[in-house]
Amino acid sequence: MIEVHNIKKSFDGRVVIEDVSAVMKAGQCNLIIGSSGSGKTVLQKCIVGLFEPDDGEVLYSGQNFTTMNGVDKTNIRKEIGMLFQGSALFDSLNVEENIMFPLSMFTTDGHRKKLDRVNEVLDRVNLKDVNRKFPAELSGGMKKRVALARAIVLNPKYLFCDEPNSGLDPQTSLVIDKLIKEITIEFNMTTVVNTHDMNSVMEIGDYILYMYQGRKEWEGSKKDIIFSKNERLNSFIFASEFLQDAKDMRMLEMTGKIPSLRNMDDMMRKDGPSL
Ligand SMILES: Nc1ncnc2c1ncn2[C@@H]1O[C@H](COP(=O)(O)OP(=O)(O)OP(=O)(O)O)[C@@H](O)[C@H]1O
Ligand SMILES: [Mg+2]
Repeated sequence: MIEVHNIKKSFDGRVVIEDVSAVMKAGQCNLIIGSSGSGKTVLQKCIVGLFEPDDGEVLYSGQNFTTMNGVDKTNIRKEIGMLFQGSALFDSLNVEENIMFPLSMFTTDGHRKKLDRVNEVLDRVNLKDVNRKFPAELSGGMKKRVALARAIVLNPKYLFCDEPNSGLDPQTSLVIDKLIKEITIEFNMTTVVNTHDMNSVMEIGDYILYMYQGRKEWEGSKKDIIFSKNERLNSFIFASEFLQDAKDMRMLEMTGKIPSLRNMDDMMRKDGPSL
């Protein structure tokens, strides 16, 4: 579990994160959402310690990360996996070398053991026969998978993903989202995902923190979103009239005011006129 208490961050006197608190639980996907420039990346970097917050504290499994000494911080960092915005693979290293990099940095394992682990995580992200390929030879979705494999190679307790779907088509995005969700549950990781992809929110968002101009505007689950009356959240998530209508229908369905659309679909198939 990660606890964020009253984080504040400014750059050159301009406040970018203002008094943000959150509790992110293990075994679930915790999403930070918000429009471009709302502070998602800065907040995530404050949480992992890449930026030092001006105020506030971050606790990893109850341990105060903000105030702990360098050695303890390094130990927590070893338990953190990161998938950066844009994948950030090393262009001059092949897939195998990219994924092996953290193992060489943080373990004393021999080549055979490291290679076995590389192949294990490649298998976990459903990639085969790509060990010798260079990032330039991979599709966008494959790059994300390699970056995800690298992020989990040290078996992290905490996984951070900044815009894992940027630049991907909706179907490939869904595959990546499902993979992140599966891995999170399988290894009981505390996963934090920055996104502005609404499909991700509805697909994997166990806990959602909505940022608006550096502040926490709203928090809740994906189910809470359907019932939320927060206008900023609604106009962000359900930006089009079509999506707003879909939300209204889902709300009526969930409150039993109209029959379940899925049931209706079944009824049509069973009893409806044959076409
Ligand atoms: N290193 C920095 N120095 C100064 N200002 C910064 C720095 N990093 C981010 N900012 C500012 O902080 C604000 C929030 O930026 P951030 O990158 O967190 O937004 P974001 O929500 O991640 O946006 P996007 O969806 O485009 O990735 C922006 O106004 C940005 O200009
Ligand atoms: Mg960002």
